[in-house]
Amino acid sequence: MANVTVIGAQWGDEGKGKIVDWLAERADAVIRFQGGHNAGHTLVIGEKVFKLSLLPSGIVRGTFSVIGNGVVLDPWALRDEVAKLRGQGVEITPDNLAVADNCPLILPFHRDLDALREDASGQGKIGTTRRGIGPAYEDKVGRRAIRVCDLAHLDALDPQLDRLCAHHDALRAGFGEPPIDRAALLAELAEIAPFVLEFAQPVWKRLGEIRRAGARMLFEGAQGVLLDVDHGTYPFVTSSNTVTGTASGGSGLGPQASGFVLGIVKAYTTRVGSGPFPTELQDEVGQRLGERGHEFGTVTGRQRRCGWFDATLVRQACAVAGVTGIALTKLDVLDGFAKLKICTGYRLNGKVLDYFPAHAGDQASVQPIYEEMDGWHESTAGARSWVDLPAQAIKYIKRVEELIQCPVALVSTSPEREDTILVRDPFAD
Ligand code: IMP
Repeated sequence: MANVTVIGAQWGDEGKGKIVDWLAERADAVIRFQGGHNAGHTLVIGEKVFKLSLLPSGIVRGTFSVIGNGVVLDPWALRDEVAKLRGQGVEITPDNLAVADNCPLILPFHRDLDALREDASGQGKIGTTRRGIGPAYEDKVGRRAIRVCDLAHLDALDPQLDRLCAHHDALRAGFGEPPIDRAALLAELAEIAPFVLEFAQPVWKRLGEIRRAGARMLFEGAQGVLLDVDHGTYPFVTSSNTVTGTASGGSGLGPQASGFVLGIVKAYTTRVGSGPFPTELQDEVGQRLGERGHEFGTVTGRQRRCGWFDATLVRQACAVAGVTGIALTKLDVLDGFAKLKICTGYRLNGKVLDYFPAHAGDQASVQPIYEEMDGWHESTAGARSWVDLPAQAIKYIKRVEELIQCPVALVSTSPEREDTILVRDPFAD
């Protein structure tokens, strides 16, 4: 059976939620494999709007949903999100939600540390979501993490707590914070444990079984390739690998399970948080993109920075993540612009570059090289086939395809799931 991996091919917020929802109907399992509740996925279903941060988008339609081991899990955020969705009428039970028992936890002091470090970082601020994502991943690779399975063995946690406190108490002292209150932490863990353990299981095993039985998997990436800790705009990135390969390591299925890699690409560019953004527009055009595109963060409510489409960045993202085809989203936001610009390369110290350099200073200094196209006056909102699109919009899409060296598989023309032009079905065998 064909599987699909959905990843963001820019700085996140490309509209993955709608596409995953659209695909989830035909999937037997939807799997989150990295990130945590720093993600913000908005699903519009009829009159209802669902905002998800941690739960896989498939849960809203009742598709079996999995939080894989590659995620960092804030158990209290999970409980709140489950309660919120249940309040909106979504059924969530251990039958349709599984949490990997080897998933590391985000703990309250991770959240504190994230904020303390951001506040102390001056110009070096990353602009994180302050949800403790980075500190939790650090503890995972530092072999200090408390994991979901530990919740069933809290009386045996002392060696792990010793390691954790040895590290964090020193850091906390540097910030003038008291040491971790071990008794209070254990009490909090004991209180949340039954809720999380209800969903905990060896996810790798369950997924392997249903895959062998012919299930179709949909891997749901969070953030975007340009926020990948290796391939993104380091250090202004998130702390996980957001590229396709993580779908295998972060779920416990082999690399061949990724299937069709669908890169989600917005028809222009946005970014939240700090960091380089060569095509950023701090003028009325940028403001217009932001207003038309409702560019406010789902998680933090922060206004997103907006700019022209950067084909150089997306080409690089598609290359490093092995994207098979893209879903182009929010095309309608470009309706009514007399002229549109696409970045095709950069100038840096008198040289022309056809890629985004690795060094943060160079990334901040590159000057975009643009090509300009006529825009279109007609509305593309709600288009469901090529014939509904103005000729100039088709020209824009074709040019994007050419420049990023990757075919368009879908075009999304509104938040409604049916407003989608299908070119190639990612699930086709
Ligand atoms: P962190 O993931 O909270 O550590 O934040 C690191 C960077 O990733 C910041 O620039 C955040 O704004 C950005 N970021 C994290 N999650 C998302 C997301 O889901 N969409 C867009 N940006 C994100």
